[in-house]
Amino acid sequence: MTAIQSKNCGRLEGLARIPGDKSISHRALMFGALTVGETMISGLLEGEDVLHTAEAMRKLGAKIEKSSDGLWRTYGVGVGGLQQPDSALEMGNSGTSTRLLIGLVGGHNISATFTGDASLSKRPMKRVITPLEMMGATVDATDGDKLPLTVTGPEDVLAIEYELPVASAQVKSAVLLAGLNARGTTTVIESKPTRDHTEKMLQHFGVEVDVEDLGGGKSAISLKGYQSLHPGAVDVPSDPSSAAFPAVAAILLEGSEIALPNIAMSDRRNGIYLTLKEMGADIEFRNRRVQAGEDVADLVIRGTGPLKGIDVDPARVPSMIDEFPVLAMAAACAKGTTTMTGLEELRVKESDRLLMVANGLKACGVDLEMGEDSLTIHGNGKPPKGGALIETALDHRIAMSFLVLGTVTPEFITVDDGAPIMTSFPNFVPLMNELGCHIGAVND
Ligand code: S3P
Repeated sequence: MTAIQSKNCGRLEGLARIPGDKSISHRALMFGALTVGETMISGLLEGEDVLHTAEAMRKLGAKIEKSSDGLWRTYGVGVGGLQQPDSALEMGNSGTSTRLLIGLVGGHNISATFTGDASLSKRPMKRVITPLEMMGATVDATDGDKLPLTVTGPEDVLAIEYELPVASAQVKSAVLLAGLNARGTTTVIESKPTRDHTEKMLQHFGVEVDVEDLGGGKSAISLKGYQSLHPGAVDVPSDPSSAAFPAVAAILLEGSEIALPNIAMSDRRNGIYLTLKEMGADIEFRNRRVQAGEDVADLVIRGTGPLKGIDVDPARVPSMIDEFPVLAMAAACAKGTTTMTGLEELRVKESDRLLMVANGLKACGVDLEMGEDSLTIHGNGKPPKGGALIETALDHRIAMSFLVLGTVTPEFITVDDGAPIMTSFPNFVPLMNELGCHIGAVND
């Protein structure tokens, strides 16, 4: 374990190029591998999670390489063409790689075993096992629900209509990916809009995906099986979830002004920015555009003084599901009470994020209440004292969130393990320091 410390710093300034979006990067590699031909990917996130996807796709028969020009290229095997891997697919910490690939493997007549680290091995897989079994796959999972787990796809994949019991883009994607190799039309019904990178990128690769608005945020996403994916180029925009860390630091450090260009900014991912604006943050969206089917904007963020506490709209939860830890840091410094509800999914992320955030903030001197699926934070408009050692529990976002808080607390904050940051934001520490932070190994 590598402990990392964050010390109080002055204002942040400068332009930071945030690495590629993790969700889009996973999908670019997977879907590129399902085309027949060459797909060129620029801006791919080279974090450990995405590298696990690349390695798994290679074991499943695709050729994937990085060229000296920094571009990644996939040479796909076509839908239905994945091969049986000759060893287990090691997924590390990555829930997205695991759940999407369970869908892909379950939609092919092959068998693959998935293994992961201590965090991933605790995460529930029933949510993907259930629909995959309905489609004809056989799944043998530890304790019925956990990794290590072996999936065997059927000879004939059954197209199904499936209503998601949890708002999850991973489950939606797993079913759609299995459906790509099914006879007939597969439909997923979601009652709350979750990130739609799968639908958009499949369309980008020429697949007909039908999205029907059923009203009240509910929609039905359908695709016919046996469609071909046509190779093309993917330009991965920067990750709005990663960008939220320097953004919140700049908002909390008065007098800051930072620019974060080329950030993926669809209404399925922008919840943190809308919420911070509601709390009084100065965030400008410039030059909105569409890039490879994805909405993108350049952000300019300024620190203009204390935020105010708000009730976060629970309907917004899926569009900011990964950003509650960093939002909690902002809420701890805001004036007034911030309530966050509808957070049951936070219990089953890389860690129990509700618990890790509540424990860490309490240790920093923050007044809060944690419920089964809620968090209420009482701020007084000033940063809490800090001065705590935070347990990271193999969770990158817990580590980065508390390092952000340490930039404003009078006493420094230490996270017990910075290594998980490599899963999603490998250059987090140097990037933050270039903007003006003091983050480094203990005693640096
Ligand atoms: C992701 C979906 C979300 C999110 C995860 C990435 C994706 O998970 O938390 O970091 O790329 O589809 P759920 O689908 O479990 O909500």
